[in-house]
Amino acid sequence: MTAPTPLIAGNWKMNGLAASLDEAKAIAAGLAGAPARVALCPPAVLLHRMAEALAGSRVLVGGQDHRAEAAGAFTGDISAEMLADAGATLTILGHSERRAGHGETDATVAAKVGAALRAGLEPIVCVGETLEERKAGDALAVVTGQVRGSLPAELAGRPFSVAYEPVWAIGTGLTPTTPEIEEVHRAIRATLVGQFGEAGRAVPILYGGSVKPSNAAEILHVDEVGGALVGGASLKADDFLGIVRAL
Ligand code: PGA
Repeated sequence: MTAPTPLIAGNWKMNGLAASLDEAKAIAAGLAGAPARVALCPPAVLLHRMAEALAGSRVLVGGQDHRAEAAGAFTGDISAEMLADAGATLTILGHSERRAGHGETDATVAAKVGAALRAGLEPIVCVGETLEERKAGDALAVVTGQVRGSLPAELAGRPFSVAYEPVWAIGTGLTPTTPEIEEVHRAIRATLVGQFGEAGRAVPILYGGSVKPSNAAEILHVDEVGGALVGGASLKADDFLGIVRAL
C-alpha cells in the first residue's frame, strides 16, 4: 500500500480577524510544488470568507469543532452541516482544548466524527496524553485507548486522519524526542490496523504540539509521521510555509 499523502493543517484556534485573511492568501500563494495537502482551520465566523478568498487555490478549509446534532435548540453552537455549507471540507475533532475545557469524552468525539461523515467532512481526530500520564508510563495506553474510543466503525472506507498531540507539547515550545514520537505513532498505526484492517495503513497520522519551521524537518521525517497539525505557527504565512517546505 502506498504511503498516505502528507497533510499539513493549521489550527488557528480563537485567533484571526478579517485582516488575517491576507496571511491565508499568502500561504496559498506560496504553496507551489509542495508535496502535501494543506489545510487551514480558522474560527467558524471567518470560515466562509476564507473559503471564498482561497477558492481555486490548493488550500483546504476546515472547522475546529462542531456539535453532533445537525440542527436544533443549541444556543451558540454550530453543526457539521453548517461548516460544510460555509465551505469547509475538513474538521478538527477531539482537540485536547475541547476534551479538557469542554468535557468531551471519547464517546462525544466519536459522535461528532459520525456527524462529520454525515455532512461530508473529513475528520482530523486528535489524541494525546497529559504530562502526568506520560510520567506515569501511561502514554501509549491513553493514546491507543483514545484512538479506539474516538474512531467509530463507520469511518471504514472514508478519508480521515489522526493527530497525535501530547497535551504538554501544545503551545509550550516543548516537543517529545523523535523516538518518543515514533513510538506513539507506531502504536497508533497498529491500533488503526486492528480497527480498520489494511486500510488503516493509509490513514495519515499527524504530529501536533509546538511544530515550527526549525523542528519541522526532523519531526516530519520520523517514521509513521504523515503530516502536522500546527497551532501558533500557522498564523503567520512565513512560519507555516516554512513547515510545509520542510517535508
Ligand atoms: P501549537 O498547537 O502548534 O501552538 O503547539 C498545536 C495544536 O493545538 O494543534
